[in-house]
Amino acid sequence: MKNINIAIDGPAGAGKSTIAKMVSKKLGYIYVDTGALYRTIALYITENNISDEDIENALPKAKVSLKFIDGAQRVFLGDRDVSDIIRTPEISMAASRTSAIPAVRAYLFETQQNIAKSNSVIMDGRDIGTVVLPDADVKIFLTASAEERANRRYKELAEKPDCPSYQEILDDIIKRDYQDMHRETAPLKQAEDAVLVDTTTLNLEESANEIVRIITEKIGE
Ligand code: DC
Repeated sequence: MKNINIAIDGPAGAGKSTIAKMVSKKLGYIYVDTGALYRTIALYITENNISDEDIENALPKAKVSLKFIDGAQRVFLGDRDVSDIIRTPEISMAASRTSAIPAVRAYLFETQQNIAKSNSVIMDGRDIGTVVLPDADVKIFLTASAEERANRRYKELAEKPDCPSYQEILDDIIKRDYQDMHRETAPLKQAEDAVLVDTTTLNLEESANEIVRIITEKIGE
């Protein structure tokens, strides 16, 4: 049976990973979070104090890989599972910066394509439908207003110590959107053949159902 490739792109905080995970469970595909790869490179660069000029030569030493353990993705730097420690606001911002470097994108391109070649996947990121999987069977562009995305993030963090203010979260989101949409290489944009799903007024279950509906309509399952 042919592998099915689903691309889900969109800005930070639109709910891509949570929704893509729900959809992949419903359809029995592997969920691939490509942002984790960029975050891991950012962690490597930060921990080793690598300057912009040295990044290209340093990349092969980073040894970034993905493993799927009981269906859940874990990301490794060498032998170290870094899946949890790459989720800080500092690494989010660093990942947005390093992901603009063409050598970083070129380095991660093959890793992403190889996973999609040998599995049915739902892959989320910024350039999956436009660059990594231009022939994906279904492409979704998932978005929500910046205010609603900041609101969701604020609610998620509100219980934690040192929670940033709503305004700080919103400013971060707007800054990351700008960086991701305006970089020269593979900027975040909706592929011409992608279906736009705006989740501003939808909850997670409604968003996942809408995407399952779009996918089953396109691939006819
Ligand atoms: O999806 P995320 O927030 O974990 O992604 C972190 C950063 O990585 C994001 O600001 C942009 C970058 N990224 C990218 O450029 N291309 C991808 N396919 C995935 C993420």
